Parts: sequence; C-alpha cells; structure tokens
Amino acid sequence: MTNTFRLHVTGRDGKSRESDGRIGGSLLEILRDAGVEEISAMCGGNCSCATCHVYVEAEGLLPEPCIDESEMLDTLLQQTPLSRLACQVTIAAGIDCLRVEVAPEE
Ligand code: FES
Repeated sequence: MTNTFRLHVTGRDGKSRESDGRIGGSLLEILRDAGVEEISAMCGGNCSCATCHVYVEAEGLLPEPCIDESEMLDTLLQQTPLSRLACQVTIAAGIDCLRVEVAPEE
C-alpha cells in the first residue's frame, strides 16, 4: 500500500496545483508541505481560529467533523457542506486522491 495520495489544491487566486501528500499527516501540514502559504492557521492547529478553513471533496472518505470542529465551522459565513478545518483532518490510509480548495478569508 502506498503511503502517499494525490492532492489537488485550488488557491484563493483560483489557480490549481497538484502534489503528493503524506498519509497520516494533518491536512494542514500536508498543505504547508505542498507550498500552500495562504492559510494563516493563527491558532497553530488548535481548532480555535478557523483560519485554516478549506473545502474538501473527499467522497465520504473522511471521518465526520468532531463537535469542536463543527462548532467552529458554524461560526463561518462561507461555510458549505464541503467545509473542514484543515488542522482537524487527518489523512488516513485508503485515500488516494483529495481535492481541496482554500476557502475565502472571513
Ligand atoms: S489552525 Fe486554527 S482552527 Fe485550524
């Protein structure tokens, strides 16, 4: 089994890029490793700022958000059914492709 997956990222500028992400990392770490600089992640990944808001197309491959993540997402004006906090998403084995769009700044 491979320990990487294919990551497609669309930034706030609308430009897309592809790279390989590491299975087992948080999505925030993976986006950083992929060179996505526009996510400020002000709380350092502690689920208390929502500046790591992204839209993820994962076709049911990700666990549902925990209560803390859901509550933070509910504070966002730009929330959609695809909304996730990148710091709270761990990429597990079995995912081979993920599409992520960086949400607009609030
Ligand atoms: S980095 Fe602050 S909620 Fe994710």
